[in-house]
Amino acid sequence: MNQSTPRGHRREALWAAAAALGLAALAAAYLAYPSIALPSAQPIPFSHRVHATVKKISCVYCHPGVLTTARAGVPPLSTCIHCHDRIITHHPEIEKLRGHYDRGEPVAWTRIHALPEFVYFTHSQHIHAGVDCGRCHGDVAHMDRIELAHDLLMGFCVQCHRDEKVSHDCWICHR
Ligand code: HEC
Ligand code: HEC
Ligand code: HEC
Ligand code: HEC
Ligand code: HEC
Repeated sequence: MNQSTPRGHRREALWAAAAALGLAALAAAYLAYPSIALPSAQPIPFSHRVHATVKKISCVYCHPGVLTTARAGVPPLSTCIHCHDRIITHHPEIEKLRGHYDRGEPVAWTRIHALPEFVYFTHSQHIHAGVDCGRCHGDVAHMDRIELAHDLLMGFCVQCHRDEKVSHDCWICHR
């Protein structure tokens, strides 16, 4: 990131604050910060629009982790085969899916949303507080391919915490 951009200055200020607070673990973890993945093609062109809007399958059917854990996760192939054992079995992409399932070889979905490891985040806490998926992920139910609706940068998290009167102390997200 170019240090002369406004974001560069913001980062310098953040690092100064982190140093002042002695967040050494955070600084160390930052060195391992992977770059955030950009939207890209998937190995099998799975469409949220088709499944969530046209076929009205609920998000939680495929991402049950959101209710009880930090991670939403992606569904195992058995979830897909539960339907595609009968539905459009001769579609070329479903034959590809079936091949993966029969070989016990997971599909390597390209990850789109990823926080650096030094950020603490849990799905279940947000879902139980009634925060809708769309406030962070946008209108997924109308996307054929998942895109980042929000950058998931610190300002995005903190702004909502301020609006919702939730704590935005550093240690909440950097433990
Ligand atoms: C039929 C199963 C299914 C349903 C229903 C479903 N998803 Fe997904 N979801 C997947 C699969 C498979 C992936 C990984 C492939 C991809 O990114 O398109 C995924 C990926 C995602 C991702 C991106 C993960 C990443 O890489 O960052 C988000 C966000 C997401 N789903 C949200 C939702 C929301 C919100 C709903 C409800 C509107 C929903 N999903 C409904 C199967 C499903
Ligand atoms: C609850 C049932 C159900 C589940 C679970 C399900 N699908 Fe589907 N899927 C459908 C239906 C229904 C269609 C539309 C069939 C048609 O067009 O006639 C479809 C269509 C598709 C298509 C065809 C291309 C398109 O977008 O129209 C692909 C590829 C696909 N599904 C992949 C998946 C994958 C991958 C999973 C698991 C992550 C999955 N499906 C889980 C019911 C399901
Ligand atoms: C408060 C914001 C927020 C809400 C609300 C939210 N998510 Fe997420 N989601 C994220 C963030 C941040 C990540 C990246 C997490 C990481 O890298 O640790 C993520 C990642 C994901 C992923 C990728 C796999 C994973 O577990 O990291 C899926 C799938 C997903 N979310 C689905 C959903 C669904 C479905 C809902 C609603 C039931 C939802 N999310 C609600 C912020 C949110
Ligand atoms: C759209 C609003 C919204 C966004 C965006 C949001 N949050 Fe939250 N967050 C909440 C709400 C509401 C709660 C309160 C949950 C509760 O009452 O238990 C919360 C709670 C939390 C907690 C638990 C706080 C505690 O007291 O233990 C953490 C950690 C957290 N959020 C991290 C994040 C991170 C990291 C991001 C950005 C990736 C983020 N949040 C984005 C609304 C949001
Ligand atoms: C609600 C969650 C949340 C809170 C509260 C929060 N952060 Fe962050 N912070 C994040 C997220 C998410 C990232 C990673 C994305 C980014 O770099 O913006 C991050 C990144 C950072 C970084 C690395 C910035 C970079 O990219 O160079 C520093 C340093 C930091 N935070 C310090 C702090 C300090 C100091 C506080 C308290 C004043 C604080 N954070 C409060 C969520 C939060």
